[in-house]
Amino acid sequence: MNEAHFIPSQYTQTLEKGQLSWEAPSNIALVKYWGKYGEQLPKNASISFTLQNCNTKTSLIFEEKKSEEFDFEVYLDGKREASFEPKIQKFFERVFVYLPFLKDYKFKIETSNSFPHSSGIASSASGMSALALCLVDLERALSGAEGSAVDLKKASFIARLGSGSACRSIEGDLIVWGDHIQIPGSSNLIGVKYPFEVHENFKNYQDTILLVDKGEKQVSSTVGHDLMHEHPFALERFKQANENLSKLIPILKSGALSEFIKIVENEALSLHAMMLTSMPYFILMKPNTLEIINRIWTFRARTNSNICFTLDAGANVHVLYPLLEKETVSIFIKQELIQFCKNGECIEDQVGFGAVKN
Ligand code: DP6
Repeated sequence: MNEAHFIPSQYTQTLEKGQLSWEAPSNIALVKYWGKYGEQLPKNASISFTLQNCNTKTSLIFEEKKSEEFDFEVYLDGKREASFEPKIQKFFERVFVYLPFLKDYKFKIETSNSFPHSSGIASSASGMSALALCLVDLERALSGAEGSAVDLKKASFIARLGSGSACRSIEGDLIVWGDHIQIPGSSNLIGVKYPFEVHENFKNYQDTILLVDKGEKQVSSTVGHDLMHEHPFALERFKQANENLSKLIPILKSGALSEFIKIVENEALSLHAMMLTSMPYFILMKPNTLEIINRIWTFRARTNSNICFTLDAGANVHVLYPLLEKETVSIFIKQELIQFCKNGECIEDQVGFGAVKN
């Protein structure tokens, strides 16, 4: 499979106007994507849990038009959000060759997130995934393929061109993105379902997201990825990530939680180590991020719990644990961790199964 696979043949149908809606989830990477090349291609393979409760709902309202420009408006929670439009413009330019109907319509893109916009939770993965699904669904109608299922591979391909990690937000529950020698079907172009056996321990895995810092990030993911080009440790990091994914394969099969924890926390800290050692260097963790990590480690040593943490490109902490420990971990979070969150806020989430059409 290469890019040409996603260039459509002539459309057979015309549609004057209409509306489509999709709800797409966020995801949390266990092995991280950090560093890219070409058109949104990852320097290493990554794997994520798809989430269930953190999601974006997007409606695409379309109407035929004549001009040769892209024509769209973006609305967040019912209000025009012009600040999102340059990103969508760039996205449309990038995907135009794969979705050539984009200049034939005027679009109204209405979007809303299940989590507060200011929560510091990245909405780009769920947002780009939901929009990609709407566009690929519209293409299905234009191709006269109304009866067939929406092309989830193409949706993942298009979502990736909007935001890399968005290609892992189409399906669930464990998604791999990036060529990996041991994972058949894995590809730099799209996210695919993890193809091997997964132990019961990882079914319904819980993710409580502790909102440590809700402000704008000082350094965007795009800038962070770029800094990997000149990074002295980049090659070792890409190798480490691919090896960590290799190590996860037998762990996911056997259910060895203590080994799982080591890989997941090593990945989170390695991601942030890349930030600390970039030039210019930057720190996205906050003092409370470290407080939470230390409390998790102390609790784990004291109770033999299988709780662990991971981090995205920000200060918030994802607390991961098996469903069986929900009660004890919830008490621990309330008693010890919630005090380190902005306004005592957290989001309770768990592994989910992918996007749905509304
Ligand atoms: C730290 O997917 O947000 O969350 O491709 O530039 O849109 P762009 O970057 P983005 O990077 C997210 C990186 C990460 C790790 C991960 O999700 O794998």
